[in-house]
This record gives sequence, structure tokens and C-alpha cells, in this order.
Amino acid sequence: MSKRFYITTAIDYVNGQPHLGHAYEKIITDVIARARRSLGQEVFFLTGLDEHGQKVHQAAQAEKKSPQDYCDALAADWQAFVKKLELTNDDFVRTTQPRHKEFVQATLSKLNDAGHFYKASYTGYYSIKEETFLTEKDRLPDGKFDASYGEVVELKEENYFFKLGAHQQWLIDYIEENPDFVTPSYRRNEVLGFLKNNTLEDLCISRPVARLNWGIPIPFDKDYVTFVWFDALVNYTSIAHAHARLGLWPADIHVIGKDIVKFHAVYWPIMLKAMGLPLPKQILVHGWWQKDGAKISKSTGNVVDPIAVINEWGLDAFRFYVLRELDIGPDGNWTDAGFRSRYQAELGNGLGNLVNRSLSMLKRYRNGVVPARSNELAADADKAADETRALFKQSQLQAALQSIWSLVNRANKYVDETAPFKLAKDPAQAQRLDEVLYNLAESCRVLAVLLNPFLPGTSAKIYAQLGLTGAPDKLADATWGGLQAGHTIGEPAPLFPRKDV
Ligand code: ME8
Ligand code: MG
Repeated sequence: MSKRFYITTAIDYVNGQPHLGHAYEKIITDVIARARRSLGQEVFFLTGLDEHGQKVHQAAQAEKKSPQDYCDALAADWQAFVKKLELTNDDFVRTTQPRHKEFVQATLSKLNDAGHFYKASYTGYYSIKEETFLTEKDRLPDGKFDASYGEVVELKEENYFFKLGAHQQWLIDYIEENPDFVTPSYRRNEVLGFLKNNTLEDLCISRPVARLNWGIPIPFDKDYVTFVWFDALVNYTSIAHAHARLGLWPADIHVIGKDIVKFHAVYWPIMLKAMGLPLPKQILVHGWWQKDGAKISKSTGNVVDPIAVINEWGLDAFRFYVLRELDIGPDGNWTDAGFRSRYQAELGNGLGNLVNRSLSMLKRYRNGVVPARSNELAADADKAADETRALFKQSQLQAALQSIWSLVNRANKYVDETAPFKLAKDPAQAQRLDEVLYNLAESCRVLAVLLNPFLPGTSAKIYAQLGLTGAPDKLADATWGGLQAGHTIGEPAPLFPRKDV
């Protein structure tokens, strides 16, 4: 039996409420996890929270709370958010949990014993907003640091450093020999460009307790806590270790955003190599969302509240829009008009209309009883199923939706071409009507199976309206001919009600 498929999201800083970007990353990961299960693989899906570091500490101080109380309160909101998105995650990590902290400390001790660290005095710059060290090279031509780094503070202090020099060449070779390790390829090229044109500076992995105590204590020096990124990256392995019986490591896919590629494709592989662990199979990098062509920002009020959208339009409409609108890689732009247009055209008039009229006609003309099998749309359905299967294995979610919609559109066109409402008026056309009704109902069934990872609620509704028991969650069931003659379907009901705006 093949190894369990282990997929993760980045763990989010718990310094505010979840936004569109967080929702997007979690939905991508959930759809890949569900798609792999549908392909018959066993899956482990991990998401969670990054709770230490200066950024979270500052946010807690601003609310006059202890960091732990602050994190506990917000963690409840984030866990509710995971439920709202109906994620099928198998665990939820919080980096303040003992199971994680103990693993980080054991890792630090091991690496220290093996001579990977040294202590030295550090002078440089630090961005609290991005929890990242900056150097002179990061300055813009005008001498300032980019506004995206927020407040940049100058640091002069003694710290522990992780020696990176010896790792640069093997990492370049590894990335060159494994073209899918960083996906898409333009992100891989950026990493290679960075590694080939710069000498890696050793990574500072500690903060003096005197300045920041909100972190995991360094086990071999009580005056220091662990740098938040060293702590955060280790979550992927600490939780794999917590489920040691499942043999999760190495991860199959780390899904992350474009701003944290260096941490995942440079520092993390080096940390793993030093830990004596194999590298993850893939770092899958998605782009960033804007709204109406401008940066999403709480301070300017240019935000999309995922919960409000879900409450108004339904979860599946939200999941559909973000994955149909934006391929995994480039940046995207949310517009309310674009959302409404896809809802109406593709969900309402496309999928919803197809299912509703197919099942309503079967109900009206044949009392809901499925006629004998007919194969007129079988080739179209097989093509969509074959393409979807292949695209799922490549995590090409937008392309899979396009392929699935080619079947939706084909079947809707078939209704127009065959005009079953006319056939129904002519008793001599009874057999032709049977054929048409079978092809439509069976197309709906196949669509329910193909769509399941994307739109789990809608997929279940289609199955229920077809009167089928069991879940449409195995891609193998997308084979033509599943509906049996004589089977009685359930009650048709609109899937995506019209909204007047
Ligand atoms: O970086 N569009 O946490 P984070 C799309 N704790 N994705 C976005 C986005 C947007 N507008 N804004 C943020 C951290 N993201 C660290 C990760 S992992 C060991 C530690 C994505 O809360 C971002 O790219 O700042 C990242 O992948 C994720 O949200 C969490 O960002
Ligand atoms: Mg960030």
C-alpha cells in the first residue's frame, strides 16, 4: 500500500481574524486533500496557527492581554473558521502546544550537539511585520526598506546562528534535479536565481529573552527563545511525529503563498537535511489576492470578509469562485461583480439549471423512474472524468473545473438540441425521450462525483436529489452507466437560487 498523502497549509499568524488569502490557501489544500481521497489515497491534511514571535506579542500587548490568553481567544475563532470552510483537516496545530514545543526543543538540542549552531553578536535589521531579518541588500535605491516590511528595527545583540554555508550547493543541485520540488516553475526559477547569485547568510535562530520572551525556550541557554520561523517550520514534522504510527513524513505538498517561498524552499530543506530527514516532495506556491485592483488591507478597509460572503451566497459558491477565478500561481483580483457573474452564469444557469431541469423532466415525464441506459453523452462524460483524474494528480484545480464545466455545457446544449419538452408531447417519441432523460440524469450523477472535492455540499445534494445513497466521493464512480434502469430519483430542488441584486 502506498504511503499516506501528507498535505499542509502554512500556519497563520494569530494576530487578527482570517481573511480571503487565508481562506484561499485552506480551500486549495482541502480540495487537493479531498481529490486525493477521491482517487483512493489515504490522506493526512494539517493546518493550524503560528502563535509565537514579536508580531503576535505586540498584538497581545495592544489588547492588554497575556500572549497566551490572546492566542487562546483568537484560536477559537480560527478553529470556527476551519469549520465554516468545511475543511477536512485531520489535525489542527497550535505552536504553543506541548507536543510541538517539546519536538522543537529536541530538534534544537540535536542540531546543537551536532555542531550546526554557534553564538555570535548580530548587528542588522528586523521586520516585525514579516518576522524576517533584513540586510543592506534589502534596501531600496532610496535607502529605505519596502513599506511591506512595516516597522524595521535595528538590532545589536548576541544570538545563536545556524550555519548555512555548507548547504548552498547541494540545495541548488537538488532543485535543479527535481523540477517539481518548487511549483510553479517561475517560483522555482526565482529560488534558483537567489541561490546562485547570493551567498547565504547564516540564519539567526534565537531572540534574547531580555527583549522577547514569547517563544519556545532554547533548551541549552535559558537566556534565549527560538526565532519564530525556526519554530513555525518545524510544525510540519512535530505533528508528523505526534502521529508517528501513520508514517507521514516526508510531506507530499506544502501549500504556501508567494511571500514565504524563501523560508520553505531554502531554510526548511536545509533544516531538514541537518535533522537527517528527507525533504518534502513539493512546495506548491499560490499567488496573492487583491480586491478591486488594490492591496487587501484592514487599515484602508479594502477587504473581503469570507464569512460574510459564505453567509450570503453559500460555502460552495465561495469555494467555486476562488478556485475557478484564480489558478495556483499568479495573483488574483476579487471583484464583487465578477463573483456575482460566475455565480449566476456558471453555478445558477450552468450547473444548477442543468440538474434542475434534468431531474424535473425525469420526474414529470417518467414519474422519477430512470429509463434504460443510453450512451449518447458517455464519451463526453468519460473525457471529463479522465481529464479530471489526471489534473487532480497535478493539483491543477482551475483546469479541472474547466474540464468539468465542459460536460456541464455539453449537457445543457444537449437539452437545447434534443428539446425533450417537445418530445414529451409526441407519444411516438417515447423511446427517444427515454434516451435523452437517461443521458441527462447520468451526466448529473457523474458531475456530482467529479465536483465532490470542490463543492462537497452541492455534490451531496445532487446525489440526494438523484435518490442515491452513499457519498459521491470516489472518482472510480464517475464511470458512465452507474444509474440503473428502474431506480426512482428523489425530489429536485434549485441548487443555486437566483439572487436579485
Ligand atoms: O506567513 N492572498 O503567516 P501569515 C493570498 N506564520 N494568500 C495570502 C494573502 C493574500 N492576500 N495574504 C496572506 C505566515 N496570504 C507565517 C507562516 S508557515 C510555517 C508560517 C497567505 O498569516 C500567505 O502567503 O502572514 C501565507 O501562505 C498564509 O496566508 C499565512 O500568512
Ligand atoms: Mg504574512
